[in-house]
Amino acid sequence: MLYWTAKTGTKVPKLGFGTWLIKGPQCVKAVKNALEIGYRHIDTAQIYGNEAEVGEAISESDLAREEIFLVTKVWRDSLNKTAVLRSTEESLKKLKTDYVDLLLIHWPDTRAPLEETLSAMQELVKQQKTKLIGVSNFPVELIEISKKTAPEIICNQVEYHPFLDQRPILKAIGVHNMFLTAYSPLARNRVFKNKTIQEIGNKYSKTPGQIVLRWLIEQKNIVAIPKAAKKKHAQDNFDIFDFQLSEPDRLILGSMHSQNQRLVDPEWAPNWD
Ligand SMILES: NC(=O)c1ccc[n+]([C@@H]2O[C@H](COP(=O)([O-])OP(=O)(O)OC[C@H]3O[C@@H](n4cnc5c(N)ncnc54)[C@H](OP(=O)(O)O)[C@@H]3O)[C@@H](O)[C@H]2O)c1
Repeated sequence: MLYWTAKTGTKVPKLGFGTWLIKGPQCVKAVKNALEIGYRHIDTAQIYGNEAEVGEAISESDLAREEIFLVTKVWRDSLNKTAVLRSTEESLKKLKTDYVDLLLIHWPDTRAPLEETLSAMQELVKQQKTKLIGVSNFPVELIEISKKTAPEIICNQVEYHPFLDQRPILKAIGVHNMFLTAYSPLARNRVFKNKTIQEIGNKYSKTPGQIVLRWLIEQKNIVAIPKAAKKKHAQDNFDIFDFQLSEPDRLILGSMHSQNQRLVDPEWAPNWD
């Protein structure tokens, strides 16, 4: 496993396991499989409706809680102080744990003042209910505002794959010594159909998915969380630690962003620019 390491020494496994749309017994099984394969970073959220199943899989595994980097996210309707504290308590109960490693604001939402949400999250750090705090789907302007209120913000989880230009956010992340968690890193299967990525894959005897995941985690401040309900997919996505991309191939992958394909853009999304 490769890790992103903070100045404070905090280590984050650079390859995590996404759980969106995996629910019920299938979720318990998928997370157990992921832990068996070697994943030590699990991504869930209140809105996914699977925290209880993620918690069940973790508590039934042979791993100690400290061996797993567990992330959850507070949903948009729970961003005032009372709701952040209450909903996180509920998350912890469902996850069957005393703490998460990282708590994120799932989407920015003007219904609650950002300062209030961040201050409630800081309170949760003091109460040792989360080790770290961060945001998700925050454009540069909101990262800057958040950092002023809560300098300890350590992560922004956003869509990132070769077909989306995220250079402004990447720059801000670097300036602030944060990491970026790349969601939808396989562009929801689209990477598998891309001829150029297929050709690169042939050189290394790797699939397009493996090439893209390797490209992401080779970048300094990037962590990636592919989702895979199927065990075979989860295993394939983990088999990326036995090769390195050449500089020319890295450059090819890094020059595909002009397509600027954003796949996740709900009506409540912020202005991305
Ligand atoms: N913060 C946010 O707002 C936000 C938004 C979106 C996603 N996320 C997080 O990011 C995670 C990943 O993003 P995502 O689920 O949107 O997209 P993704 O990881 O890019 O793609 C998932 C899709 O790719 C398939 N797949 C995975 N590995 C494969 C392989 N090796 N070969 C062929 N197909 C493969 C999966 O199939 P199977 O499932 O059938 O195996 C699934 O259909 C989510 O689960 C969630 O945890 C966060």
